[in-house]
Amino acid sequence: MEYQTASGKTIELIMVADHESTDLPGAEIVESVITSQEIGAPSIMFCTGSTPVPIYREMVNRYKNKGLSFKNVRAFMLDEYVGLPSGHPACFRTFMIDHLYGKVDFKRENIHYFDGPLEDHMGNCFRYEQALSAKGGIDLTLLGIGSNGHIAFNEPGTSPESRTRLIKLTDETRKANARFFLTPEEVPTHALSVGLANILESKAVALFAAGSKKSEIIARALAGPVTNDIPASHLQNFQGKLTVILDEAAAAGLNR
Ligand code: PGA
Repeated sequence: MEYQTASGKTIELIMVADHESTDLPGAEIVESVITSQEIGAPSIMFCTGSTPVPIYREMVNRYKNKGLSFKNVRAFMLDEYVGLPSGHPACFRTFMIDHLYGKVDFKRENIHYFDGPLEDHMGNCFRYEQALSAKGGIDLTLLGIGSNGHIAFNEPGTSPESRTRLIKLTDETRKANARFFLTPEEVPTHALSVGLANILESKAVALFAAGSKKSEIIARALAGPVTNDIPASHLQNFQGKLTVILDEAAAAGLNR
C-alpha cells in the first residue's frame, strides 16, 4: 500500500504478519533488481543483524531451487566493527559469508569489504567510497533500523551529508548488540560505516523492521519530523524509491 510520511513523501509500505514473513517481499525486491534488464549488473548494499536473516534464507533458496544467480552482482556491506580479530563470529563479514555470500554464486572479486587493517580507517573509507561510486553507484540498499533510529551505524546526531567514516558507537547500540558477544565488554566501541549520504545516493532503498521493540522508532522515523536525532528520518527526503517492509508489531505505531 502507499503511505505518506510526515514530510509528504509517498512510500511503498508492505505489511506482513511476522518477522519470518518478511522473507518473500524482501527476496522479491532483491530479485527484481538482480534480474532487471535495465540495470544489468547491479550493485547492492546488504544489511546485517537479526532482521534480514529470513530474507537471506529465501535468497539462498531461490539460488538453489529457482536459478537466481548472483554472479553479476557487486555486493557491499553497510558497516563493520573495528577491533575484532578476523573471523570473529560477530564480524559482519562473517555474518554475510555465513548467511549469503558463502551460500550463493557471488564472484569473490565482486564482494566489497572494509579491507586491510581496519585501524587504517582513513585508507579503508577512501577505498570504500571509490568502490561505492564506481560503475554507476548503488542500485539498492537494504536497511534494518536500530531502536535509537540508526541506519547502518549512523547514530543519533548524524548529518545527511555524512559519508563513509569511523564511528563511535553509542552505549545503546553496544548494549543492543551485546547478544552477539560472550560478554557486553567485548562489543567494540567503534565501527566503520557508510554515511547517510551514501544511503541517500542509492537508487532504491528497502527498510525492514520486525517486532514490537521497533514500533516506536518506526513511527518516529516515518511519521515524525526529519531530524538528525533520528537518522532514519532522513529517508523521508530520499529521492529514489523507498519500500518499507514491516511486520504487524513493528507497524503498530503508524497511523494508517
Ligand atoms: P537488528 O539490528 O536487525 O539486529 O535489529 C538492526 C540495526 O541495528 O540496524
